[in-house]
Amino acid sequence: MILIIYAHPYPRHSHANKHLLQTVASLDGVEIRSLYELYPDFALDVQAEQQALSRAKLVILQHPLQWYSMPPLLKMWCDKVLEHGWAYGHDGHALRGKDCLWAVTTGGDTHHFDLGGFPGFEVLAQPLQATALYCGMNWLPPFAVHNTFACDQKTLDVAGEHYLSRLRGYLAEHGDFADRGAASGVQHG
Ligand SMILES: Cc1cc2nc3c(=O)[nH]c(=O)nc-3n(C[C@H](O)[C@H](O)[C@H](O)COP(=O)(O)O)c2cc1C
Repeated sequence: MILIIYAHPYPRHSHANKHLLQTVASLDGVEIRSLYELYPDFALDVQAEQQALSRAKLVILQHPLQWYSMPPLLKMWCDKVLEHGWAYGHDGHALRGKDCLWAVTTGGDTHHFDLGGFPGFEVLAQPLQATALYCGMNWLPPFAVHNTFACDQKTLDVAGEHYLSRLRGYLAEHGDFADRGAASGVQHG
């Protein structure tokens, strides 16, 4: 079971993320939780989020990069859902052994990240990577689509195929989830 925690502040205006999501949405064993559609008022249902995480083997954190970081509702999701005593700390083992994949889109190309004393795109993964590792998760090589400002449909199609084959590969490697029924995915308009 793959859980996609999707954080796009304006899902209906998305091009890149919407396309990626639509490409993988029909895979058996994939559940999508679109945070900004589930919680337009930012009132997160912590229990529902934790239950969804408990069902998953692979947790994907998918979002557009915003100011070199994650959208605010995803940050709040981390703050509230990854509770002490559940995700970390004493008896906090709920996420231990699960896999974590960062799936991110960026407007800039790779040169866009050559700024400051720690240049390069990879350094941006550090807060989420450290969070996942702190919770005992395995950090997988990130999936990134750059240069979305200039992306044509063909480039997006190729990116979607890469995303699909990454998830298919994971499902094939980690057992047949099809028997458990299709996901209760959130629809995106
Ligand atoms: C408020 C805001 C901040 C952004 N900050 C960055 C940034 O720091 N680096 C970058 O490469 N793109 C940045 N972008 C561009 C988005 O990452 C890009 O538009 C998005 O990945 C495209 O995906 P979408 O079509 O699903 O919206 C920003 C966009 C917005 C709206």
